[in-house]
Amino acid sequence: MILVTGATGKVGRAAVDQLHEAGVAVRALVRRPEAADLPPGVEVVRGDLADPSSLDAALDGVHAVFLVWPTLVADAAAPTVVRQLAERGRHVVYLSAIGADEQAGAVLGSHGYLERLIDETGVGRTFVRAGGFAGNDLGWAASIRTEGVVREYYDDWRRSVIHERDIAAVGVRALLEGLTGAIFEVTGPESLTVPQRARIIADALGAPVRFEQMSREEMLAQMATWMPIDEVNTALAGLDEMTARPEPVLSTVADVTGAPARTYREWVADHLADFR
Ligand SMILES: NC(=O)c1ccc[n+]([C@@H]2O[C@H](COP(=O)([O-])OP(=O)(O)OC[C@H]3O[C@@H](n4cnc5c(N)ncnc54)[C@H](OP(=O)(O)O)[C@@H]3O)[C@@H](O)[C@H]2O)c1
Repeated sequence: MILVTGATGKVGRAAVDQLHEAGVAVRALVRRPEAADLPPGVEVVRGDLADPSSLDAALDGVHAVFLVWPTLVADAAAPTVVRQLAERGRHVVYLSAIGADEQAGAVLGSHGYLERLIDETGVGRTFVRAGGFAGNDLGWAASIRTEGVVREYYDDWRRSVIHERDIAAVGVRALLEGLTGAIFEVTGPESLTVPQRARIIADALGAPVRFEQMSREEMLAQMATWMPIDEVNTALAGLDEMTARPEPVLSTVADVTGAPARTYREWVADHLADFR
């Protein structure tokens, strides 16, 4: 039995699908089972990673865990939760981020913290350190649909954004083949700026998509919608540092899964309905 957390999110949902398709018994940890909308045959159990006492039922009989962590918001509970996972599972695959070992900024600091906690338990573990998710660009969907506009602050940051299914595929391969001890840094197959990605979306839609640069104040306000307010300035300083250099393009997805990493164009095609 493999437990997948964050099972309603981008990577977690893809991991559930892939494990289920591989014929493995999968249990999904979710906060709201009634809204989970997961495939029939997947066991859905209620639990909250910020509340260790809510996890007993979810962990019963679990052999391995695909761990998607609610970065920053549940960090206070992390020492207890990680211990609980390591007591029950033989293998923890943790979805981390490239740069977790550098700990520049709050988000990477949180991933570094989780990696250290997992290592301290001595459990078999695999870290899948992802670069930027293509899925972050769903944040543009509303403004593309209503105004034909993409707004971003870091316009010329070259990112090799990765399809959520490729991140999941590397973690799933690690679980199925027992690749403990590994650290896989994963990215998409091409390095693209924001205006380049906006053009690819426009091509796929067959409609114009304009790029507009956001102010720093707008960027701060946007980040404050998904992270604790006192973390925003540190996180933005970390982002300033990260954006000064392009993300690398790594071959890990192909090396581990045997299939080439999906292109940004393929990701857009898979999500076209969101942008239309
Ligand atoms: N975005 C990137 O570019 C990037 C890059 C590298 C690493 N990462 C890391 O990848 C992970 C996932 O990020 P994401 O953007 O993919 O997130 P996401 O798609 O929004 O998914 C987040 C998931 O976590 C669940 N969740 C939130 N709080 C929870 C809690 N207290 N207890 C249990 N489940 C909870 C959500 O469930 P509900 O349905 O209940 O809300 C949802 O299923 C994060 O750790 C992030 O730091 C992201």
